[in-house]
Amino acid sequence: MNPYYPKLFEPFTIKRTTFKNRIFSVPNMMSHMDYKGRPDDSMIAYFGEKARGGAAVVTLGDTPVDREHAASNPRSFAVTPENQPMLAEIASAIHEGGALASHELNHAGNVAVKEANYGGDDWMPWGPVDAVRWDGVKIHGMTKEEMELVAGHFADAAEILKTAGYDMCLIHGGHGWLLDQFISPLYNTRTDEFGGSVANRAKFPLMVVDAIRERCGENFLIEYRMSGAEEIEGGTTAEQGIEFAKLLDDKVDIIHVSAGLDIEEAQAVHTHPTMFLPHGVNVHYAEGIKKAGVKSPVLTLGGINTPELAEKVLEEGKADIVGFARALIADPYFPEKARHGHPEDIIPCLRCLDCLTGLHEGNNLKCAVNPMTAREERYRNLLQPAKRQRNVLVVGGGPGGMQAAITAAKRGHIVTLAEKEGHLGGLLKFTDYDSLKVDLMRLKNYLIAQVEKNEIDVKLNTEVTPEFIKAGAYDAVILAVGSTPSRPPIPGLDDPSVQHATTVYTNLEGFGRKVAILGGGLVGCETGLYLAENGHDVTIIEMQDEIAPEANWMHKEGMMQAFAKAPITCRTGLKVSKVVPHKGVYAVDKEGKEVFIEAEGICYAMGQRPRTDVVDKLKDVVIDTEVIGDCYKPRKARQAMEMGFWAAVRLA
Ligand SMILES: Cc1cc2nc3c(=O)[nH]c(=O)nc-3n(C[C@H](O)[C@H](O)[C@H](O)COP(=O)(O)OP(=O)(O)OC[C@H]3O[C@@H](n4cnc5c(N)ncnc54)[C@H](O)[C@@H]3O)c2cc1C
Ligand SMILES: Cc1cc2nc3c(=O)[nH]c(=O)nc-3n(C[C@H](O)[C@H](O)[C@H](O)COP(=O)(O)O)c2cc1C
Ligand code: SF4
Repeated sequence: MNPYYPKLFEPFTIKRTTFKNRIFSVPNMMSHMDYKGRPDDSMIAYFGEKARGGAAVVTLGDTPVDREHAASNPRSFAVTPENQPMLAEIASAIHEGGALASHELNHAGNVAVKEANYGGDDWMPWGPVDAVRWDGVKIHGMTKEEMELVAGHFADAAEILKTAGYDMCLIHGGHGWLLDQFISPLYNTRTDEFGGSVANRAKFPLMVVDAIRERCGENFLIEYRMSGAEEIEGGTTAEQGIEFAKLLDDKVDIIHVSAGLDIEEAQAVHTHPTMFLPHGVNVHYAEGIKKAGVKSPVLTLGGINTPELAEKVLEEGKADIVGFARALIADPYFPEKARHGHPEDIIPCLRCLDCLTGLHEGNNLKCAVNPMTAREERYRNLLQPAKRQRNVLVVGGGPGGMQAAITAAKRGHIVTLAEKEGHLGGLLKFTDYDSLKVDLMRLKNYLIAQVEKNEIDVKLNTEVTPEFIKAGAYDAVILAVGSTPSRPPIPGLDDPSVQHATTVYTNLEGFGRKVAILGGGLVGCETGLYLAENGHDVTIIEMQDEIAPEANWMHKEGMMQAFAKAPITCRTGLKVSKVVPHKGVYAVDKEGKEVFIEAEGICYAMGQRPRTDVVDKLKDVVIDTEVIGDCYKPRKARQAMEMGFWAAVRLA
């Protein structure tokens, strides 16, 4: 029995397959394809690394079962005979890493796009019913023969996986793709034997399960991913989800209970929960299914990113298995670190969704907190001990400086980290107070723990000067001195009562009930949410037409949904002209009309300025000096850490 997380590491057996623990690496969309749309070596290494990290099962992302009804990714890789050798390579890499291999099979149904497919001029997406899609494309309602054909394609694909060495396959029956379209009353309005009751709507999905079972036999495990509820008006409800799970119970080996719809923006942020939702927000769907007496092992997932929460969910009997996507993208070694009782070494996922939205934009998978993700093979050599040990000074103990110091120390350099304040963390100090930023706080604490664990000479309360650098005889200096808030010359803004947004966290009472926030970037918006959650009425005043344009679309969608439930008003297209402390703010709209917005408390978040003055003083003392993070360009912790990582890798 594992002494740290006994439930999480409790093995279990289904039929002839034993699972070493209850951690499943759930599907990640395929990335890193060559020009023919085939996975390249980086992807093989990526899945191998996940397996080495200790998950019981590593699952490849959803892959079409044919080349005529693929999802929107034009590089989609189908499970077809010509791709079997490549699929076998990935399965081998997973097995060599010590995990079982699974692969998700999908059919996009009525959201397939022509460009991704090999269909001819008369190509149409298939769905439960004839319809016209939002983009004017006609959808063909499937006949029974076509359902049998598609079920056969699923079986063909599963057989290919079985032959390629996979231990199991995962049927994608959730998130709004074809099989879910049949389950969903929103998309399935058929009046024949495949429409109406849940039992009727389930006939085609169950036909697919049966076809795979018949072809691959009893011992090739079948997992089924469903949406516990679609979280959309008119869509599948939790009760219907339970009814469907009961129908699956005798037929599949594991039921994955996800939620929402991938194909609708508002619901996609429940499928991939943003930081604005509670951790484990979808667990109750799995719990409901278990409580209803379903006997198959039930997997839960969605925003679970600590071993503590996963253990609790299992301990409380809400699920039998916990699935992790992003937590294992951020740190594939999460399971091994947890198993050894070192949760402080786990690189925490921020639930920022930069990874997924990056894929949506057509890029390869990248993680905001782990530069190694999906680049394991390519970068591994870079992290070898440096040929020449150098005496390195890192100035500034924010995320950029800490990441630089950790990477340099790991590469065998002698590292000093000097920080002006009495603590590490830099700007991220505020996360100690912001309940919304608990993931970012964990990231800060993770970095601090790694600084402490590596051989780094930390000098707190040390403001670095040119003399300090000269006295240390350093070979190389990394400047990570950060930024300061911009404070434009607006009348009244310099009043002591008008403070930067970060002061809100330590002085809530000082702001009164009605608060105006000047600046509607992410910092202003997220501070606004914090204030609103703490009982304030908030008005965000933004000069541009849009708030938080720098946010990725999923983060923004999640934030706007949170705004809709909070006492927050956004006033865009307004340029602040004057601040009247404790009274309000004058602003001018695009037509030049002046408006007055009443507020007892006023704070500003109008961007950050790099500490150029400090950089200018320090940058020429040692030839090998690099400037990184916010003092190079104020952005986010992600960029600061990436720059810190690379500056330390370049030290040779
Ligand atoms: C309110 C707010 C919310 C934010 N929210 C997010 C978020 O949700 N996600 C995200 O990714 N990013 C967020 N950011 C941005 C993020 O905090 C910064 O991008 C990041 O902290 C930059 O890291 P850094 O290491 O470059 O600089 P900093 O974190 O600013 O650290 C610089 C350090 O250098 C020290 N220093 C300065 N001069 C000297 C000197 N001469 N000698 C020694 N030490 C010195 C400073 O004391 C400081 O500790 C937020 C920023 C703010 C203001
Ligand atoms: C980068 C990325 C790619 C994903 N690709 C798939 C996929 O191919 N198929 C699928 O069913 N879900 C996919 N998901 C959803 C995850 O499997 C998971 O259901 C969701 O992210 C919630 O779990 P998490 O909070 O642990 O990340 C993906 C998620 C991410 C972040
Ligand atoms: S990019 Fe963000 S959400 Fe995705 S795995 Fe990394 S930290 Fe988590």
